[in-house]
Amino acid sequence: MTGEGIGFGKAIVFNEHFVVYGVPAIVSAIGKYTIAKVKTIDEPGWRLNDNRKATPNYKEEKIEQQKDSINRILKKMDIDLSKNGIEITLDGTLYCASGIGASAASCVAIARALSNHYNMDLSDEEINSIAYEGEKAYHGNPSGIDNTASTFGGLIWFEKSENNIMDRISLQNPVEIVMGNTGKVADTAAAVAGVRERRERNPEKYKEIFARAENIAYLAKDAFQNEDYQELGKLMNENHKLLQQIEVSSKELDFLVKLARDAGALGAKLTGGGLGGNIIALTPGKDLQERVANAIEKEGFQTLKTVIGATRGMR
Ligand code: PMV
Repeated sequence: MTGEGIGFGKAIVFNEHFVVYGVPAIVSAIGKYTIAKVKTIDEPGWRLNDNRKATPNYKEEKIEQQKDSINRILKKMDIDLSKNGIEITLDGTLYCASGIGASAASCVAIARALSNHYNMDLSDEEINSIAYEGEKAYHGNPSGIDNTASTFGGLIWFEKSENNIMDRISLQNPVEIVMGNTGKVADTAAAVAGVRERRERNPEKYKEIFARAENIAYLAKDAFQNEDYQELGKLMNENHKLLQQIEVSSKELDFLVKLARDAGALGAKLTGGGLGGNIIALTPGKDLQERVANAIEKEGFQTLKTVIGATRGMR
């Protein structure tokens, strides 16, 4: 018998990093996903076939974190592999890179495949909290935004608190985006630790930046609800500036952001942990999406053309 499960990729549209401190953030599942399959094997323990396509070095650099993550998921689910073990196979359309939710998508997919394999019939809420446990191996103390988007899909307003607040933002029509990959694998835990250290050293400066980030989240929610993409683009540009101020951007990210804007994107910013990884550019309509993606590809970078705001992440 084989168990199967899916986890969506994601793009943080507003307030990565700020979200760790309880500032509201907006995230969307994207139209790419990871699939996990689980089957019983004769030997004890687990083994992994990771067939996902990835940025060079991504899988190698994350291998220890990945092992730790799978062990945490198994422990949280109380699965005993001392007699019959399992083989986990990862596949799907999500190309692994930093900033795109690859770790969260794999945690969610594996948790779902295990639930399916062992007939546990777990709810989405339960899957989400298991995946959160798996994410700790990659992030230390993650906000939970990635696994939430990866589990539930759609466009989500997220606030970290004792009981995380999660509200769906409904759009009439999903909107096109382009993601541009710097090709650099980034360490989210290190990026988060750097922000913490600088924030402690410069409390006044950071207080002001964080206050503006919070303000931007509310304005962005209104802009989404009014489908005012000009305004949304401006807010993304401003959000990128704040991310530069807390020093999580990089030369390559700034270069891709500028390329996207010059090619007509309504807004562009880094997405995810930063210091490498991906940018997100707002490009309503297929023509603009194509134009922005071409401009980035012409400079030798990989792109992903997808949408945000589909009711579920799409398959
Ligand atoms: O690097 P990613 O795509 O996994 O995103 C991390 C998002 C952060 O806000 C930087 C960290 C977190 O736990 O929310």
